[in-house]
Amino acid sequence: METTHRVFVGDARDLSGIEDDTVELVVTSPPYPMIEMWDDLFTDLDPAVGDALESGDGRRAFEAMHAQLDRVWDELERVLVDGAIACINVGDATRSIDDSFRVYPNHARVLEAFESRGFDPLPDVLWRKPTNSAAKFMGSGTLPPNAYVTLEHEYVLIFRKGGEKRDFEPKADRRYEAAYFWEERNQWFSDVWTDVRGELQVLEDDELRDRSAAYPFEIPYRLICMYSAYGDTVLDPFWGTGTTSLAAMCAGRNSVGYELESEFLEVFEDRVAAAPDLSRSVGRARLERHREFVDRRRKEEKEFGYEADHYETPVVTKMERGLQFREVAGIDRLDDDESTGYLAEHVPLTLE
Ligand SMILES: C[S@@+](CC[C@H](N)C(=O)[O-])C[C@H]1O[C@@H](n2cnc3c(N)ncnc32)[C@H](O)[C@@H]1O
Repeated sequence: METTHRVFVGDARDLSGIEDDTVELVVTSPPYPMIEMWDDLFTDLDPAVGDALESGDGRRAFEAMHAQLDRVWDELERVLVDGAIACINVGDATRSIDDSFRVYPNHARVLEAFESRGFDPLPDVLWRKPTNSAAKFMGSGTLPPNAYVTLEHEYVLIFRKGGEKRDFEPKADRRYEAAYFWEERNQWFSDVWTDVRGELQVLEDDELRDRSAAYPFEIPYRLICMYSAYGDTVLDPFWGTGTTSLAAMCAGRNSVGYELESEFLEVFEDRVAAAPDLSRSVGRARLERHREFVDRRRKEEKEFGYEADHYETPVVTKMERGLQFREVAGIDRLDDDESTGYLAEHVPLTLE
């Protein structure tokens, strides 16, 4: 099996490199409005943002920034197939402007934007960022009432385009082979994720790392396994250093991305080189965790109804029987005039 991964250096407000109705899943994290590190970017996209900030009008700046994201959401509406899922990782922002502190609720504004474009909101996920530091106070020490709650969670907002679920032919291999384990379902489809590890991948250049605001690999990887089948294409319009494409590659799905900053593609080169090892270790770790689950369940003297077809292990449900992990066996370049591309060759996961 082969997958393709394309990256366009360009502005996602115009996804003209991607045809209508060709994407089955979006997994992305936009620049967060009202987080200072993105002020300049939003001002480049629309100078009205800078004017609003300078005049101390936080509410107007917030709206002007979201108006730029809205243009990307319009494009998603065009490129997604009916029934496609969009997963938007976003955090709220806290900020003082002209000595007035408040929260800017990005998640609520993005939710409204998708709903008004005909997407159905589905139950969302909160994930807690791993933090080593003791909780930081915001506001006035230990005296009521003027201290503020510290925001240490982000949202994964989840939407479906159009009212209907996607259709698959009965028993479609590409869906059944992409099944996940029962215990993974219980963990992944819970509404609060506290077990997402920080981004372990080290980017060489500290400045680049700060600017890329990469999310942990585990976030796109899980979402891709939860909401797409083999053969599907995953889009990240705010591609950054390509964590979504890396996760898609490891999960055996196609990907496409847009990114304004061309230098992030160089970072991705190193990440791609590590994809064969990463895909193997991610797949093996899932099988290893399943074996531990089997041991625990047997100790509790609970039954397993079925045997997996491709691995020597029992599984809880009939739907898991056909699951088959893939690993990346090799990667070639697939550049064209418009985009940088990669062709990944996948083989069934080996255990030795
Ligand atoms: C929060 S970061 C995403 C990081 C990414 N998820 C990763 O793991 O590396 C947002 C990215 O969107 C890019 N960006 C912002 N506005 C854009 C636009 N209009 N078109 C394309 N890329 C954009 C920024 O340069 C930045 O790399």
